[in-house]
Amino acid sequence: MTKDITARPANAAEDWTIPQDWASYSAAEHHMWDHLFARQAAMLPGRVVPEFMAGLDMLRMTKPGIPDFDELSERLMKATGWQVVAVPGLVPDRVFFEHLANRRFVAGRFIRTPEQIDYLQEPDIFHDVFGHVPLLAHPAFADYMRAYGEGGLRADGMGAIDRLARLYWYTVEFGLIRQNDGLKLYGAGIVSSYGESVFALDDASPNRIGFDLRRLMRTRYRIDDYQQSYFVIDSFEDLLRQTVETDFAPLYAELNGSEGLDVDTILPSDRLYHRGTQDYARAKAGAV
Ligand code: PHE
Ligand code: FE
Repeated sequence: MTKDITARPANAAEDWTIPQDWASYSAAEHHMWDHLFARQAAMLPGRVVPEFMAGLDMLRMTKPGIPDFDELSERLMKATGWQVVAVPGLVPDRVFFEHLANRRFVAGRFIRTPEQIDYLQEPDIFHDVFGHVPLLAHPAFADYMRAYGEGGLRADGMGAIDRLARLYWYTVEFGLIRQNDGLKLYGAGIVSSYGESVFALDDASPNRIGFDLRRLMRTRYRIDDYQQSYFVIDSFEDLLRQTVETDFAPLYAELNGSEGLDVDTILPSDRLYHRGTQDYARAKAGAV
């Protein structure tokens, strides 16, 4: 999410949006999108939740080139009332929440360069749009994102953004979901990453733990490498119901000032799908 942002760039509107200026993308930029798209589209079927593929299809994101936000918004609006708007980069928390609460998803307009194909610090349009937008066509997920925006505004007033951010991280960005034929991916940070699309589902290293709202809001996360624990929801409807029906204020109060659980902690109460070996993280830690 959002850190250390000071001034709004001169070209941005008061709500921090800028024109996508779709016509100004170069052939090389469209080509980069097509390359990233082809790589993920070849790998994801069978691994990603089918609702994601349905969203790609429904929004016509399968057509070549960087998507035009106006076209995406027109289709999304009909499906779930959402729009996609461009911003210069990270935006302040309140601005981000305000947009979500009004069913506007904010996306960067820039695309990574060839040197950044597999690793980049800040989310680009491929992460923001390929990763996040398809599921906004799904009614329960779309409602969850809107509710999250309202929850964010409320959390801000209670000084609890850091705890709420863990919910976003372990669902919207790095969530797994259980289906009849096994675990599937749905988090945008996973599905937009070539390496993590395999790692999150198939590698023996990370823990895979059943979703538990309070547990997850206690759990720290890492922003520099693959996750060491993933949390598995039962369905988007269940995620929506649990988060909307729970008053977070007592949770925030309870967790206030607590250290937070380590990224690889396993609790006796955890519903474990897989106990991770943490071999990957250990090897990385050893390599100086
Ligand atoms: N129910 C939460 C609260 O009381 C709001 C929320 C809903 C937060 C859905 C996140 C997702 O603050
Ligand atoms: Fe993201």
